[in-house]
Amino acid sequence: MGFNAIATAAALFGLAFTPNYDEDQVPDYTLPDPLVMENGDTVESAEDWFERRRPEVLGLFREHVYGHRPGPPESVEFDVVEEDPEAMEGAATLKRVNIRSLHGEGEHAFELILFIPNDAPEPVPAFMLMNNRGPENTDPTREELSGFWPAEDVIERGYAVAAFQVSDVAPDSAGSFREAAMSLFEDPEEDRTPNGWGALAAWGWGASRAMDYFETDGAVDASRIALLGHSRGGKASLWGGAEDERFAIVISNNSGCGGAAISRRRFGETVARINENFPHWFCLNFREYDGRENALPVDQHMLVALMAPRPVYVASAEDDGWADPRGEFLAAYHAGPVFSLVGETPLPADDMPEPGEPAHGTVGYHIREGGHNLTPEDWGYYMDFADTHFGR
Ligand code: GCU
Repeated sequence: MGFNAIATAAALFGLAFTPNYDEDQVPDYTLPDPLVMENGDTVESAEDWFERRRPEVLGLFREHVYGHRPGPPESVEFDVVEEDPEAMEGAATLKRVNIRSLHGEGEHAFELILFIPNDAPEPVPAFMLMNNRGPENTDPTREELSGFWPAEDVIERGYAVAAFQVSDVAPDSAGSFREAAMSLFEDPEEDRTPNGWGALAAWGWGASRAMDYFETDGAVDASRIALLGHSRGGKASLWGGAEDERFAIVISNNSGCGGAAISRRRFGETVARINENFPHWFCLNFREYDGRENALPVDQHMLVALMAPRPVYVASAEDDGWADPRGEFLAAYHAGPVFSLVGETPLPADDMPEPGEPAHGTVGYHIREGGHNLTPEDWGYYMDFADTHFGR
């Protein structure tokens, strides 16, 4: 067999890519400086950041990574289709809310599941999970319980807890992702534009419609909503939190490549790999950076920085090499100068903390033992972090 035949066979059987898990093989790289404008100007003040550099960085991520998402639809309507004041053995009130977006001739609906603690002073702050796993993880009947969304624990700590299925907003499939909410704004039969939004941006757009609902529900404090996602949901929570500053805390759990992990490290999953396997997640322009991470005008520390001055949390798991725990830590760390400039506390750790020892400033980080997952242990650290920032 000649080289080409071997390469073709390797590509066909998915053998062409060997992820790097060796820290010594991480290439040399220089991160773009979040505090230097594209024209070379230095960002000297918080005002400079908010008025000049932040819009520029947001625009760069829109253009090169996630795509431009549309604004809100012409109108959004909410119907509480079920309300049970005796949910969780009387500890909480369940609301199942149908969120309906109307735009032009189009209509799109998805469901928000919300539990509100019965004995907490209202309005209560809330955690909302962008659920990328099956609906059995967020069972409104509580017949099925899941550590992925330990709703009883969250209620016990005095928070409301909400979830929606990201696939209800945009199916997680290259063949059909444009057929739900995105079709309000574009024809799925037409070619995507190079900087048009992908599924990750669409999921964040859905989170914003849930926020529209919270703003109408007097039991929930819409100014204290923590947005949370795991893995592909964690990529979407970071981008959704960057696009919609109404989210008071943004949390990414094991979000990896295209989430919190520094792309230039090429550790575990890479830009080329993610674009090949998940062609519907990012904008088409992101493919220009397959194998050319150093040419990106941004890296993911700048995504974390877009949350400032709001608290943002990045979390890793020890055995989750594919998501590059060290790269996730470094993004949280290198967002620091922006947080300092705007008068907030950067990540209070110069190197990766030990598992189970979270570092909490306005930027938070932890790594825990175990593999790729969202667990009650992770939730516990997120609630500690929120307790601090929500002054509880
Ligand atoms: C795949 C993908 C990751 C993603 C993960 C998940 O492993 O390569 O980028 O984070 O799925 O969503 O669980």
